Amino acid sequence: MKPWPYPRWLAHRGAGKLAPENTLAAFRLGASHGYAAFECDVKLSQDGEAFLLHDDTLERTTSGQGSPAKQTWAELARLDAGGWHSPGYAAEPLPRLAQIAAFCQANGCALNIEIKPCPGEEARTGEQVAHDAARLWAGAAVPPLLSSFKPEALRAAQAAEPALPRALLLDTLWDGWETTAEQLGAVAVITNWRLMDAALIQRLHGHGWRALVYTVNDASVAQQLFDAGLDGLITDAVDLLRPD
Ligand code: G3P
Ligand code: MG
Repeated sequence: MKPWPYPRWLAHRGAGKLAPENTLAAFRLGASHGYAAFECDVKLSQDGEAFLLHDDTLERTTSGQGSPAKQTWAELARLDAGGWHSPGYAAEPLPRLAQIAAFCQANGCALNIEIKPCPGEEARTGEQVAHDAARLWAGAAVPPLLSSFKPEALRAAQAAEPALPRALLLDTLWDGWETTAEQLGAVAVITNWRLMDAALIQRLHGHGWRALVYTVNDASVAQQLFDAGLDGLITDAVDLLRPD
């Protein structure tokens, strides 16, 4: 397997349970708990700005409505992405990927960018996010790890910036996932933690892929999986699980 520069513990959506997910406030909170690696969800505005948001629509985590893919960055930048969480985070904005890149590099943190395209935007998002990531982390010792549940998005990222590391995300072990990961030149496979066990870790390592899971919030599950050879774990529980 290739050298693996990423910490074992990654905070999910920034650290998005105690602070509003996928905001700079969440990253600051995760870092204050000792986390040096983060996962976040990235998609594109209508005019091609890469920014952080999990859902395909704005309602749950912002003051906006509808699809972000149909709105310009100037419109999205005015939204409140924190008030839904708690009043203390009111007026927290949606962050651009560029701001997260600056925060992570200033604080020596690694980033796993989950490419989370709005429906129909897979190739466009994969290509744009890869180009942005290569530019924003140019010369960095540890590049961002690009991941996605969508092979099409990873294929576009691979074509755009082949040198950036890629990971295939799996919520099920669907037919052909190993061939797909091979074709994508993946360095890692990140599964739902319920799919992962010692046998799957060995199988992944046999291909030369690192084995990671999302989203583990239980210390005993984390310990079992690390004992079985797991390479990394994404968690919400930044206040309970101490990174080592
Ligand atoms: O990147 C892994 C994890 O974030 C996948 O689940 O829905 O939180 O993006 P989700
Ligand atoms: Mg995610």
